[in-house]
Amino acid sequence: MKKVLFSIIIGFSILSHANAFEGDAKAGKTKAATCTACHGANGIGIMGAYPNIAGQHADYIVKQLKAFKANSDRSDPVMSPMAAALSEQDMADVAAYFASFGRDGSAPAVTEDAASDSSATSAAPVTRAPAKAVYIADAKSGKALYEHGDKARGITACIDCHGKEGNSDVLINPNLSAQHPEYIEKQLKAFKAVTRHNVAMNQISGNLSDEDIANLGAYFKDPAAVGEVKASAAMVVVKSFTGDVAEGKIKAVTCAACHGEDGNALVAMYPSLAGQGEAYLVKQITEFKTGVRQDPVMAGMVAALSADDIQNISAYFASQTLNPAMAETSARGKQLYMSGDAKAGITACVACHSINGKGMDKAGFPSVAGQSPTYLKSQLEKFRTKARTNDTNSMMQNIAIKLTKKDLDAVANYMASLK
Ligand code: HEC
Ligand code: HEC
Ligand code: HEC
Ligand code: HEC
Repeated sequence: MKKVLFSIIIGFSILSHANAFEGDAKAGKTKAATCTACHGANGIGIMGAYPNIAGQHADYIVKQLKAFKANSDRSDPVMSPMAAALSEQDMADVAAYFASFGRDGSAPAVTEDAASDSSATSAAPVTRAPAKAVYIADAKSGKALYEHGDKARGITACIDCHGKEGNSDVLINPNLSAQHPEYIEKQLKAFKAVTRHNVAMNQISGNLSDEDIANLGAYFKDPAAVGEVKASAAMVVVKSFTGDVAEGKIKAVTCAACHGEDGNALVAMYPSLAGQGEAYLVKQITEFKTGVRQDPVMAGMVAALSADDIQNISAYFASQTLNPAMAETSARGKQLYMSGDAKAGITACVACHSINGKGMDKAGFPSVAGQSPTYLKSQLEKFRTKARTNDTNSMMQNIAIKLTKKDLDAVANYMASLK
């Protein structure tokens, strides 16, 4: 099947070469004046909706312009009228012009004229309104899908056609490197809905879920930043939050001094909030505010927050990734966590905080995995001495009171070591 697709692509490639007009980048520069309003003087689209065409293969650009003009395989209310005004020679020229830039919009190596134009280097910074997060796209899963595909779901690896990190060797297969994620997502959805036509892409995108598409977009935000990934990482990571992550991030700036900008505290006495359950965070912040959980520092910090603020801040920290703490583990710590101590009447922590320590947010059980051991010890001590009493049915107080000082340290260290 992959073979068949390849031969279709290569077939097209030969065809388009045979028909191609020779493009002149210098003439193309003049003709491209109308294009720059959206695609930038150097081919870097000024917004997420306008694709980067800098350093794109000229053959591919020409093919797209023809498709827009014919309103056949690809149609777009903005681009179709634009392309309608272009002759085949114009297309070849503007394609040669945009193809002469680097993928990042850097000045062309050979066409000195274009490089000397100061406006050609004005890659405007892209500002995008943060989307309300329904789920958090995962760049790692995107990369795994890009490089390995997913046989079980009939998804061919994109890398076979689009090349390493989106730099393709086949001229009719577009470069995806340095492309706006929004644009990538829009195109994948258009291929999936078959409003944009291409045999290979219609088939491949037909098997992509919305989460896959968002993950692929996230990967292209910065492909170089995602490390090595295995095929097994292609599982879809869907996290949903009740609050608005983007709003929460804005409100959370006052928390950064102690809990870290991304919820990873830098000082051991402060808890990390990154990756903690959203519902648990809402409960804690609300209870600091009402005094059900008592802490003089936190009470002041959260006094002015509205219910919406609390929900949004919680969603923000819950969406962040925890950098787990380092801690020494011991056999006793693991034993207490996994099995409790029947003789001492200590319930196994695993029953509520789960096997990997991530807790169960829906049931109100917090994540303790990778949390600062200093903080975990301080909380067990507070439950033990009834300085913290906000646990429903005193469930933590009843357990903590049975822990000796040595056991308390051992189990806290074990929790901190979980990932
Ligand atoms: C008013 C804004 C605007 C102008 C002006 C404009 N474009 Fe576009 N262009 C777009 C948009 C929007 C798309 C994406 C359409 C879609 O989503 O399918 C696009 C897509 C393209 C693509 C396809 C890119 C890809 O990766 O598949 C090419 C090639 C292109 N434009 C070339 C040009 C050229 C050449 C000109 C000048 C003659 C031009 N455009 C003028 C907005 C514009
Ligand atoms: C068999 C080869 C092949 C494979 C595999 C493939 N693609 Fe494509 N892709 C193409 C071709 C060819 C086009 C250009 C279609 C056209 O001419 O309109 C394209 C176009 C695209 C575009 C639009 C680019 C633009 O600038 O408009 C995106 C985005 C894309 N592919 C993403 C993917 C992703 C993600 C995967 C993997 C899930 C993938 N492709 C797998 C061949 C392939
Ligand atoms: C000056 C330092 C400081 C600042 C600033 C701060 N906190 Fe805290 N935070 C603490 C301390 C100390 C604790 C531990 C309190 C205890 O021992 O019960 C804590 C605990 C918490 C907890 C409980 C964590 C858990 O695992 O149970 C949450 C939730 C929290 N803070 C949220 C916030 C939010 C939201 C803000 C910003 C509006 C904020 N904090 C600002 C110091 C701070
Ligand atoms: C029956 C369920 C249950 C068991 C068993 C349990 N916990 Fe908990 N634990 C909770 C709940 C619920 C909370 C949160 C209370 C609240 O809402 O403030 C909690 C909170 C904690 C916290 C504070 C977390 C934070 O971020 O502030 C620590 C530390 C903790 N538990 C340790 C333990 C240890 C150690 C054990 C085993 C010896 C254990 N727990 C067993 C239910 C349980």
